[in-house]
Amino acid sequence: MASIVLNSVDKIYAGGVKAVNGLNLEIKDGEFMVLVGPSGCGKSTALRMIAGLEDISGGEIVIGDRVVNHLPPKDRDIAMVFQNYALYPHMTVEENLAFGLKLRKMPKSEIQKRVNDAARMLGLEQYLKRKPAALSGGQRQRVAMGRAIVREPQAFLMDEPLSNLDAKLRVSMRASLNQMHERLGVTTVYVTHDQVEVMTLGDRVCVLRDGVLQQVDTPQNLFDDPVNLFVAGFMGSPAMNFAYAELVRDNGGATVAFAGYRLPVPDSTFAEKPGLDRYIGRKIILGIRPSDFEDSGSASGNGAGWAHIPVKATVTEELGSEINVLFTIDAPPVEHKDTVAAANDGDDEETSLPLTGDKSLWTARVNARSHVRPGQDIELVVDTHNLHFFDVDSGLSIGHEANIGR
Ligand SMILES: Nc1ncnc2c1ncn2[C@@H]1O[C@H](COP(=O)(O)OP(=O)(O)O)[C@@H](O)[C@H]1O
Ligand SMILES: [Mg+2]
Repeated sequence: MASIVLNSVDKIYAGGVKAVNGLNLEIKDGEFMVLVGPSGCGKSTALRMIAGLEDISGGEIVIGDRVVNHLPPKDRDIAMVFQNYALYPHMTVEENLAFGLKLRKMPKSEIQKRVNDAARMLGLEQYLKRKPAALSGGQRQRVAMGRAIVREPQAFLMDEPLSNLDAKLRVSMRASLNQMHERLGVTTVYVTHDQVEVMTLGDRVCVLRDGVLQQVDTPQNLFDDPVNLFVAGFMGSPAMNFAYAELVRDNGGATVAFAGYRLPVPDSTFAEKPGLDRYIGRKIILGIRPSDFEDSGSASGNGAGWAHIPVKATVTEELGSEINVLFTIDAPPVEHKDTVAAANDGDDEETSLPLTGDKSLWTARVNARSHVRPGQDIELVVDTHNLHFFDVDSGLSIGHEANIGR
């Protein structure tokens, strides 16, 4: 096993596309790092440079204690798993798993042991004598993973390996991947654009945009404390709600005013976000996550720090244990370059309701006990401890430790 370090790595393709721009990233020995970002942001390019499948245009890549800039892929001791796995159709599962090891002239007994271990780990034992044509898509993808595992490489590199599988299979493959990483502890770099994979698979997540690193942190920290509008809008589904707002302070304390609503801003928020007080009296962008709403009727949240806002439910999406309540607010949509970029990449098609220019569509995720129906008036409560504030010009998260002094 090994750490993987990228120092100011650039990739400029012939034709001048700068696919990766000054990327600094340290993946610790044994860590599961997820690379995420919109299509075309440079995820695959970064992975392929680590693998050695793509030359780097600048900077340095270190695997373990070796600079590998000029090392061919086969000498980097890493295994790559792609979205489109290719198995040898004329070989059985067992032969597919063993093939790479045979090429390397590994002793038969060792090959047998590794193949059996991998098959057990991936639940492939009863399929060893089958050919790929007689396997389901998920089983084939397991074989592709198995081929990477038997090599016992220093690192796994995976490029959207589950994206061709149906939703149910993805769930079980995610579980297998987690288990596999727990057992083997092999350094893994995993590319995806799937929200659930981002939140459930990684020790840490690296968010890229246009080849530029935005933020690296644990999934929970990225969700709770995004560094800018882009990361805030990209992480989480349904996406964070945004509105232009004004911070004001009067006798009763600080409030944030938007679309005819006024929410109190707790003192603790000013303590957590140094510099926020300088925005008093100024326009900011307010962000509220759908999950920080609740229906006041069914709310656990009627205590301190919960503010009430009455809305009319335009659309409701029942998800079993929760309901997404879509409602409009009387404020123009936030059209910052960073929110637009994040929103455009989402797989959500829910924001296609016709809207006039001075209204925005927001989403609240409430408990299913709410029983709210479309067209109903409903009183929502908002957890005011989780409000997000962004600078209108820079799009940076106000008071985020990475932005202090920027
Ligand atoms: N072989 C190539 N030649 C030229 N441009 C490329 C090549 N591969 C990728 N690109 C460009 O580099 C950028 C990043 O691509 P990629 O790394 O595939 O993004 P992602 O995997 O995040 O979708 C895109 O603008 C893409 O069009
Ligand atoms: Mg890609």
